[in-house]
Amino acid sequence: MQFVEAHGAKIPAIGLGTWELSGHSCARIVEQAIRLGYRHIDTAQVYYNERDVGEGIRNSHIRRSEMFVATKVWTTHFAPNDLLRSTKESLHKMRLSEVDLLMLHWPNAHVPLNETLGALAHARELGMTRHIGVSNFTVALLKQAVALCPEPLVCNQVEYHPFLGQSNLLAACAELGIAMVAYSPIAKGTARQSEVLTRIGAAHGKSPSQVCLRWLVQQNVPAIPRTSRIERLSQNIDVFDFVLSDDEMREIFALGSPEGRLVHSVTEPDWD
Ligand SMILES: NC(=O)c1ccc[n+]([C@@H]2O[C@H](COP(=O)([O-])OP(=O)(O)OC[C@H]3O[C@@H](n4cnc5c(N)ncnc54)[C@H](OP(=O)(O)O)[C@@H]3O)[C@@H](O)[C@H]2O)c1
Repeated sequence: MQFVEAHGAKIPAIGLGTWELSGHSCARIVEQAIRLGYRHIDTAQVYYNERDVGEGIRNSHIRRSEMFVATKVWTTHFAPNDLLRSTKESLHKMRLSEVDLLMLHWPNAHVPLNETLGALAHARELGMTRHIGVSNFTVALLKQAVALCPEPLVCNQVEYHPFLGQSNLLAACAELGIAMVAYSPIAKGTARQSEVLTRIGAAHGKSPSQVCLRWLVQQNVPAIPRTSRIERLSQNIDVFDFVLSDDEMREIFALGSPEGRLVHSVTEPDWD
């Protein structure tokens, strides 16, 4: 497994997303993923599966120190006391003493950002999380957050796949030493419909989804694909034995456009 380093955090380059997984099947997928070599699991308070994710991690019998567990605080918990209380609840559900990464899930203009970031940093000081980050922040919001946060932010988790260009945000993250983590990295499963990705994949004996993930790995962008199918778990982590050429990388970059965005939220910012 490769890692992406940012402000002391070592983020495994491929993780398992868990949105829309729940119950026993979620615990089983998480356990199986860890057995297959995944060391990074992404959940969130609003996925209502933190208990199942924790169960899957325990059932795998992996040493806690080998895992990178990330969760996200939901926007209704951004007042400082709510952030700390809800993080405590998340830890209780997962039966963990700390997570590796605690993120703000989306920006929330209704609570002053400095207060929320102060509480996020406080959660770190209290030992609830090893690292802190944000998600769905634009370049402007990210710069504001870095200026206001008393502790370094290690990541900005955003939608990124070949059909959605993110060059401005990538450049800003690089400048700030922050990892950009890609969610929906295989475009919610639609990568397989792309003729370009299929052709490039065929040249390497790989699927279009694997091409997407490899394209991200080669940009130093950790990716968290989600699957509910055990047979796809191994496929999604099997992206470290081939290399896309510069021409192939360029051809994939050319598929990106602002219209490629698939994930929306009622509180979404003015995207870059
Ligand atoms: N921070 C945020 O606001 C935010 C927003 C969205 C997502 N996320 C995180 O990012 C994770 C991933 O994003 P996502 O779930 O939206 O999308 P995704 O990982 O791009 O795609 C998931 C879809 O692709 C299919 N799939 C998985 N592996 C495949 C493969 N090898 N070949 C073909 N199809 C495949 C899955 O179906 P099967 O289950 O049938 O395999 C599922 O329908 C989420 O689970 C969540 O942890 C974060």
